[in-house]
Amino acid sequence: MIGSANGTAVSITGLGCYVPERVLTNAELSTLVDTSDEWIMERTGIRERRIASDEQAMSDLALPAAREALAKAGVEPKDIDLVIVATVTPDMMFPTTSALIADALGATEAAAYDLLAGCTGFMYAIAQAYGMLAGGLAQRALVVGGDVLSKILDWEDRSTLVLFGDGAGAVVMERVERGGFLGFELGADGGGGEHLWLPGSGSRKFDDPESFVKMNGREVFKFATRVMVSSAEKLLDRCGLTIEDVDVYVPHQANVRIIDHAARKLGVPDERVVVNVDRYGNTSSGSIPLALADAAADGRLRPGELVLMTGMGAGLTWGSALIEWTEEMA
Ligand SMILES: CC(C)(COP(=O)(O)OP(=O)(O)OC[C@H]1O[C@@H](n2cnc3c(N)ncnc32)[C@H](O)[C@@H]1OP(=O)(O)O)[C@@H](O)C(=O)NCCC(=O)NCCS
Repeated sequence: MIGSANGTAVSITGLGCYVPERVLTNAELSTLVDTSDEWIMERTGIRERRIASDEQAMSDLALPAAREALAKAGVEPKDIDLVIVATVTPDMMFPTTSALIADALGATEAAAYDLLAGCTGFMYAIAQAYGMLAGGLAQRALVVGGDVLSKILDWEDRSTLVLFGDGAGAVVMERVERGGFLGFELGADGGGGEHLWLPGSGSRKFDDPESFVKMNGREVFKFATRVMVSSAEKLLDRCGLTIEDVDVYVPHQANVRIIDHAARKLGVPDERVVVNVDRYGNTSSGSIPLALADAAADGRLRPGELVLMTGMGAGLTWGSALIEWTEEMA
């Protein structure tokens, strides 16, 4: 799916994020499985990640992120009419995490649903919110991306354990005078689904269901390096822009090697690339909103600048968005 904005200006007017307090370093991981700080740094660029406590579920990460985004946008929860939570680790399948957080926030007028698109979930969610807002179905949307992957990882499998962390980010989206989203490109390839999967987690019966994330790292790496480039190029082309027009590049924070490869192939200079995977690992649906929030906190997102985001993940799925950054409202 690819589309450019249809004339209605819709933007991000508030950003928030939240990560659990507990820091898990590579050194500590190497006491749990046969790995080392050196291997993890060289292959992934990840130094440490955050891990939720036993009591913390997705809504506990989503709520502080959502409250911050609302405060930054200067929007009251009762004025939100759409809540989307992109996650593969909801508190439970139902009630949805979006309904739970809408209730906790006091967003009593909001439609609320969860969305599953692996690590690409946030990109799908902002595209949906854009469509609802541009179409006039909703006035103000709260979109959260986040995951508590530590709860579904195999803590004895070094090939997945070292890659992931927990965290959430949130944005408020509204119609604005000018600027905002320019377009989206989203895609899926279920044929590669078995390379990153959680068998036994739904209605398909397996004789011996595997209750943890399973991944073929090399296949996912090949897929990632391909789609991170092709998705961004297609979207820029559709919007009549080139990579030189992009001021800030916010790639999915899966692995520094994948980010470097995509930036090099696309031709984005290092100083325009946002990287925080070293501190958080891959937080799945949380990765792009967390990186956006980090970039905003560092003063790297300035009104009028063009921001390119590209995600990829389980499904297999991918998605890009282009936005002309606008002022936060509050
Ligand atoms: C997972 C990934 C880092 C592995 O890096 P790689 O260079 O492909 O490494 P390989 O899989 O070839 O494994 C090399 C060796 O390291 C070993 N290894 C795997 N994980 C290890 C770890 N945590 N510590 C030490 N050794 C490890 C492997 O067993 C293998 O050993 P062998 O050669 O004796 O069989 C890389 O494939 C990757 O980043 N893939 C994409 C994953 C991803 O981003 N997933 C999420 C998408 S949203």
